[in-house]
Amino acid sequence: MKQDMIVILDLGSEENPRLAREIRSLGVYSEIYPHDITAAELAALPNVKGIILNGGVNRVVDGVEIDVADEVRTFGVPVLEMDHKGSAPWPADDAARTAAISDFVFGKCAAEANWNMENFIADQVDLIRRQVGDKKVLLALSGGVDSSVVAALLIRAIGKQLTCVHVNHGLLRKGEPEEVVSVFRDQMDANLVYVDAVDRFLDKLADVAEPEEKRKIIGAEFIRVFEEEARKLEGIEFLAQGTIYPDIIESGTKTVKAVKSHHNVGGLPEDLQFDLVEPLKMLFKDEVRACGKALGLPDSMVYRQPFPGPGLGVRCLGAITRDRLEAVRESDAILREEFANAGLAGKVWQYFTVVPDFKSVGVRDGLRTYDWPVILRAVNTVDAMTATIEEVPYAVLQKITARITAEVKGINRVLYDLTPKPSGTIEWE
Ligand code: XMP
Repeated sequence: MKQDMIVILDLGSEENPRLAREIRSLGVYSEIYPHDITAAELAALPNVKGIILNGGVNRVVDGVEIDVADEVRTFGVPVLEMDHKGSAPWPADDAARTAAISDFVFGKCAAEANWNMENFIADQVDLIRRQVGDKKVLLALSGGVDSSVVAALLIRAIGKQLTCVHVNHGLLRKGEPEEVVSVFRDQMDANLVYVDAVDRFLDKLADVAEPEEKRKIIGAEFIRVFEEEARKLEGIEFLAQGTIYPDIIESGTKTVKAVKSHHNVGGLPEDLQFDLVEPLKMLFKDEVRACGKALGLPDSMVYRQPFPGPGLGVRCLGAITRDRLEAVRESDAILREEFANAGLAGKVWQYFTVVPDFKSVGVRDGLRTYDWPVILRAVNTVDAMTATIEEVPYAVLQKITARITAEVKGINRVLYDLTPKPSGTIEWE
């Protein structure tokens, strides 16, 4: 392993993810471990330069209370005890806090600031090769940030031993399936199975109007298609997944136990359970993006805004029809283009269009129309639990409205949704 590490032992503090991020931002790698990790496991971690006991002094292993400080002092690395519950004993002032952390990390532990993407990638390539050997790995490549970065990392490590399966369920944004094929098959020379399942999904969804029912069908069908493709492949032993650190750390206490790394394979049958390869599981989202950039993925993939699993399916309201779905896709592409032109693309957290299943009267070229509206939505949030509305400049809204009504078939009105969350949710369904 190329990088030094500061271990944070989670004894019940809520600030561990923040602390790990702060140490990493100083250029030193840091990981959080649960209170019941065994002393042997802790001692076996590579390149540990210091240990922070955060949130208490005692831990319980198999019902026995252990004084952690006594235990970890035998490891011969500096130990910092944070004997508190919840709030940080570091100085409240940001600069003073950084100086205090820096003093421990560099002063007491003499850690080297050698945590960077180049070393991370080199370490992971090495680990993946050791884990996988000459076996084959399968990955469901949606084209989202996490699965794309996993794919790029595995291609670097094991090349054609990786098979990527990209399922086009017809609910992706304009240009997305094409980009997956061009980046991974054409540029990175990956083994990519492209599955055109558009008709299959849309047939299943025909006449289904209830949002949760739509979600269930999309999720279940996805697993079925993926399973069918997996069965066609010979000798796969591993499944790669884009699990990232926030998936593993539950914000709260006594964390790392709350692993949900199997959440994506839960639907696969018993005889198709693979060993997991999860090379991003220790990265925060911005680090995943930096990793993707370092691996040469295009910005359009690396800085992609969040996109729901059911895709445009929950933005084509009610029972999905192909013509309305096309209107969502085309209007979304115009919105994205104009947001990019206006410098809003990197600033607004999530922005998209919605096409409802009702019509209104309009006029075009002197003739009556009876068409659907497009609803624009642009929200800002930190955690998606609440959201505020972006104050998009009026001129930008006018331009988008003019383009959508002129270029998108079947649309005669454009509305801007001013509803924060709550009372609305971010998506309409
Ligand atoms: P809501 O609509 O609940 O959305 O305010 C919060 C965030 O979650 C995304 N979202 C989903 N993501 N599957 C997903 O993977 C879903 O079914 C789903 N529904 C909503 C939404 O885009 C927003 O970022």
